[in-house]
Formats: sequence, C-alpha cells, structure tokens
Amino acid sequence: MTELVTQETTGEASARRDVPLLLSVRGLRVSYRTPRGTMHAVDGASFDVGQAEMLGLVGESGCGKTTAARSLTGVLAGNARVTGGSVTFTGRDLLALDRQDARAIRWTEIAFVPQSAMNSLDPVYRIEAQLLEVLARGNIRGRAARLRARELLDMVGLPHTVLASFPHQLSGGMRQRVAIALALALNPLLVIADEPVTALDVIVQREVLDTMRDLQRRLHVSVIMITHDISVVAYCCDSIAVMYAGQVVESGPSAVLLGQAAHPYTMGLCNAFPDLERAADLLVPIQGSPPDLHEPPTGCRFAARCPFALERCAQEPPPLTEIAPGHRAACWRSGEAAALRVRATEASTWMP
Ligand SMILES: Nc1ncnc2c1ncn2[C@@H]1O[C@H](COP(=O)(O)OP(=O)(O)OP(=O)(O)O)[C@@H](O)[C@H]1O
Ligand code: SF4
Ligand SMILES: [Mg+2]
Repeated sequence: MTELVTQETTGEASARRDVPLLLSVRGLRVSYRTPRGTMHAVDGASFDVGQAEMLGLVGESGCGKTTAARSLTGVLAGNARVTGGSVTFTGRDLLALDRQDARAIRWTEIAFVPQSAMNSLDPVYRIEAQLLEVLARGNIRGRAARLRARELLDMVGLPHTVLASFPHQLSGGMRQRVAIALALALNPLLVIADEPVTALDVIVQREVLDTMRDLQRRLHVSVIMITHDISVVAYCCDSIAVMYAGQVVESGPSAVLLGQAAHPYTMGLCNAFPDLERAADLLVPIQGSPPDLHEPPTGCRFAARCPFALERCAQEPPPLTEIAPGHRAACWRSGEAAALRVRATEASTWMP
C-alpha cells in the first residue's frame, strides 16, 4: 500500500529511509511583501537530507530554491517572512531559534555558499583575511588559524599563493573553490551551496563538482546542492528534490528520479537539459512559464503546462505521496508514470 505524505505532515515516512536524517523540512512556507501584495515564494515545501548525503534541490528560476535555503540559515531578506512549517536539524527546530542561536550555528554547523561566489567573498580583503575571519568565529586564531587556512586551500586544490590574492585576481572557478574552503572551515555538518557552478564553463563546472563530491565523501558532510540544471544533480547527487512553484513535487534517490520519474515536470526537466549521451538538438523545452505566486492556482500548479493534465488536476492539488520507499511525487497520475514517461520522451508531447 502506498503511503500518503502531504507537504504538511511531519515525516513518518522519512524514518524508513536507510540513511539517518540530518535535516527534515516539512510544509515550509515563506512569503515576500511586494508592491503587488504577498508573494508565496515557498508554499508548503517538504524534503529531507540524510547524514553525509548530497541532495540536489532542482527547479526553474524563481521556484523558491534560494528562498527555501536562506530560511534554513535565518538569512532572509527584510521583506520575507516564514509563515509556516518546521525545519528539524539534529533534533532542533531551526525556525524556532532566536537570532543569537541562529547565528551561533551558521558556519559552525550549517554553512551557506551564496548564489554567486563573489557574494560570499569581500572584494576589499585578501583571501587569507577572509579565511581567518571565519576561523575566528570558531575560536581558531593565530598560528593554528594560519595552518588551517593553508590546509583548507590544499583541500580545495588551490595553491597557497591564493592567500595573498584579492577575489578579483582569481578566476571564477578559483573563487568558487575559495567559497567552498570558507564553507568547510569550521567542519559544519551541512553545507548549502546555491548554484555553485552555474557561472562556470562546462569543464570547470565538472572540476569543481568533482572536488565538492570528493570532499563531501571524505569529510562525511551533508550538502544541499541548489541548481536549475538537472544534469548537475545527475552528475553528483545521491538524492534529488524537484521544486516547482514553491513546492517540492518529487523527491527520492537520484537513480530513481532520473530513471523512473513519476512527475511530468521531472520528466520535462530531464528532456530539457543536455547530458553526456544526448545531443543538444534533441533537447525539448517545457513550454510556458510557472504561475504567479501572488495568486497560486487552486489545483496542481503544473497543470497549465502539463501535457497529461486531466480535468481534476486544475481543481484539486495533488498531495506529495510516497509511491515507493523513499520516492515521493505530487501527481494524480503517478500510478501511470511508466506510460507517461514513454510519451514524455516524444517532442510532440510537449508542443503547445
Ligand atoms: N526580496 C525579494 N522580494 C520580493 N520577491 C522576491 C525576493 N527575493 C526573491 N523573490 C521572488 O521569490 C521567488 C523565488 O525566488 P528565489 O530566489 O527563491 O528563486 P530561485 O528558485 O532561487 O530562482 P533562481 O534559480 O533564479 O535563483 C521569485 O519569484 C523571486 O522573484
Ligand atoms: S497532477 Fe495532473 S497536471 Fe499535475 S503533474 Fe500530474 S497529470 Fe500533470
Ligand atoms: Mg536562486
């Protein structure tokens, strides 16, 4: 029998995962105050991260990835408000922490690498000063800190000469490696990396991802890798959570999601990005654009773009349902996924 796990429930299903949980997000809601009213950027998102696991949080631009990630570390914009849900991390609800406690776990337990490496690096300080500043937060100072700074550069594959450089003197890939070194400085349990390779060319992307994957395995750290590019998560993530219009619509082990996607949006994403075997001219984009989250649709949020939509879809929101151990999808037609997957590979299916 399949188990129904709505985006609101607290996670009994997660207890059956074979990887012990580090982070469990349930029914997370974050909204922004805008001139047009309230925008529900994250609207009931649920996902888990296991210990020493790399989770890919993937979805189109604007689906709420960065907002969700920032709410985990308490670094949201001034016009943002968390309006619901829970974020359980090593037994504590992060959303209930006061500012001081939230600040105390930043860098030491959860490190956040922001969307552009330049954003995490201060342009007016040399790299060594920036590493020492983070190390000081963990009370590592003086000679121990200078040694640790060198060790961190070794870990991310950069020469020690980088210590004397300013960020603008480094290439994009080198800056991203520095950002990773900063994140790992205090041995956090979880690193959230927001689009860590998006601005890099394909070869450098691969090198940086290899470094991240290698470090993640060696240090047994958990990673949330945020990206709009499903081929990045396919390359290095253990599990995947697919976001659409503020919600997680499918999640599970990478091999399962990539080989047996149960949500049409995931099927569409798999068609829309190149991989090693597929020629770029065979890529099929998903037509249309996501809904305006000032007024989210009543039913399935993907209905207006979904080639498999039924009448029911636009009226009733499908709950996130466990369709196999550890594999969840929010689609009324997930029971027919095998047949839909075949149709989803045909370009004509996605034509308007
Ligand atoms: N400070 C803000 N004020 C108002 N709206 C915002 C603010 N920050 C983000 N948004 C809006 O919230 C929605 C979610 O944004 P978010 O940055 O979380 O998306 P994302 O999935 O990370 O997108 P991208 O892939 O482009 O980085 C978008 O519609 C965005 O325009
Ligand atoms: S619920 Fe309906 S509209 Fe939504 S993804 Fe499934 S088939 Fe498509
Ligand atoms: Mg973002």
